Amino acid sequence: MISKEIIEEIKRRNDIEDVISQYVALKRAGSNANGLCPFHSEKTPSFTVFKGTDSFYCFGCGAGGDVITFIMKVENLDYVGALEFLAKRAGITIPTDGYEAETGMRRTRVLEMNREAAKFFHSQLKNDKIALGYLSRRGLSGSVIKHFGLGFAPPGFGALTDHMHKLGYSDEELQTGFLAGKSQKTGRAYDYFRNRVIFPIINTAGEVIAFGGRVMDDSKPKYLNTSDTPAFKKSRNLFALNYAKNYCSEQMILCEGYMDVIALHAAGFQNAVATLGTALTPDQARLMKKYTKTVLISYDSDEAGQRAANKAFTLLGEAGLETRILRMNGAKDPDEYIQKFGKLAFQKVIDSSYTQFDYKFESILKKHDPETAEGRIKASDEAAEEISRVYSSVERDIYIKKASERLSISPDSLKRDVENKISRRKRSNAKEEKQKLIQSAQGYGDRVNPDKIKNLKAAAAEEVILGILLKYPEYSVRIRKGSFELQSENFVSEFSRRVFNAVMAAGDDFELGMLNSDFSEAEMARIIKMQIAREGLSNTDGVFSDSIAALKQAAKKADMSLEDIIKAKRSKQ
Ligand code: UTP
Ligand code: MN
Repeated sequence: MISKEIIEEIKRRNDIEDVISQYVALKRAGSNANGLCPFHSEKTPSFTVFKGTDSFYCFGCGAGGDVITFIMKVENLDYVGALEFLAKRAGITIPTDGYEAETGMRRTRVLEMNREAAKFFHSQLKNDKIALGYLSRRGLSGSVIKHFGLGFAPPGFGALTDHMHKLGYSDEELQTGFLAGKSQKTGRAYDYFRNRVIFPIINTAGEVIAFGGRVMDDSKPKYLNTSDTPAFKKSRNLFALNYAKNYCSEQMILCEGYMDVIALHAAGFQNAVATLGTALTPDQARLMKKYTKTVLISYDSDEAGQRAANKAFTLLGEAGLETRILRMNGAKDPDEYIQKFGKLAFQKVIDSSYTQFDYKFESILKKHDPETAEGRIKASDEAAEEISRVYSSVERDIYIKKASERLSISPDSLKRDVENKISRRKRSNAKEEKQKLIQSAQGYGDRVNPDKIKNLKAAAAEEVILGILLKYPEYSVRIRKGSFELQSENFVSEFSRRVFNAVMAAGDDFELGMLNSDFSEAEMARIIKMQIAREGLSNTDGVFSDSIAALKQAAKKADMSLEDIIKAKRSKQ
């Protein structure tokens, strides 16, 4: 582990406001500063930097933490990666000795190991006629194979493992890096990828972070992928971004498969990327936002692909990206399309890309025949529904014109329908919003602290106690000295108890950042909220001891059941 002193030093030398202002235009507001949140798309600033606690919090999306958390999120790094980033920024060298042993394996060691494995796989491919034949049947030339560093994992259980042993990697390291499985009988390592063609996954820094491996026949599973390791998080990376990042300042093409991306790059569309065997994640959407303005979704033409495309549409929009859909007739995916029709045809597909509305309108017209009166009425109602969900009014007007022409109806009446739907939705949203507030106040659906619902009074007292402890860590010393009677057993909810224990363990020199590795992002956001809520508190001692008393009192009461809560809520309405 990196020592506490170094972490301290790194934080001291990276002023949170300085760091954040390199990403966000901040405006001062008293001792704090506000700006537009870089983690979700918004038009009014709900992102705040708290100078007093060296923390940030977004009241819109709940992202929050210290300068390390900020860098983790914005630069897409893990905890150690963020520390390294900030250390470099401040010109601090992190001492490396002795810091691998404890946590098993460090990121750099996994990366070295992956690079060796990639070399091995690549060299094995040269000798294997079957694998080479497979790739060439799929249209990949020698230079494409080389460009992507494709490889081959031989059959049998020990080819890679033996090779890596010779290079000094242990069974345990191979297992942590997901290059080897662990035999249930002997506990020894055996090759994870066997008899598969290998697609190395390389990040924007040129590091080999993971592998995908495909069978060469119809056996299952078709692909194996590296799971998360100290050097890799599936949900935060994209295949071929290492190349695409240089070709995508205007547009990026998002595909489902490795083979799609490779075919596209080979045909000159080097701005293509793919997710890594999962549906698109918000982190990936944000990552794309760093490099491009518009994403062309180029998913498989089957129903599953189209459903996934609709989801991606929403996520990308939320990340602030323009989005369009590519529609390929006569082929199941971009790879097949290029092989069948060539690159000029694919360029045409790009040039006639659809907006989400175009796309939906087409399927509405398929459902309802616009030649009949009934079909026109239904189609116009569904079109109005779709248009009412479009955010920009300029865009809405364009679609209203388009749809009314196509359906031969008056644009004014379609516009009225759209506006009615919008105001109806606004009203019901406002209601829902209010409902949500009530529910969250009562602890409904609290995923961070699911125990809250069982004893709301106790949970409220816990939040005050923890807020004070988080803000004034010296209270933990005073608790230990016996000035206050409080133990972890007094806490009713598991989440609060965990926070309490962590703060007590750190003692006087507690820092928010110390929690980063043990608490999830959502949990961190809650922790920061508790801390911020105690900003500017007077008579802290009094509030602290009152809250301890309140907690003990509330804990004695029988847990409130869900039915009780709902009853209580009904009687209030
Ligand atoms: P596809 O089944 O569409 O594969 O899965 P593909 O990329 O077109 O591959 P080919 O053309 O049949 O060789 C799309 C992506 O989903 C992930 C992979 O990342 C794949 O590229 N996937 C698919 C898996 O992770 N595991 C699987 O078993 C199948
Ligand atoms: Mn395919």
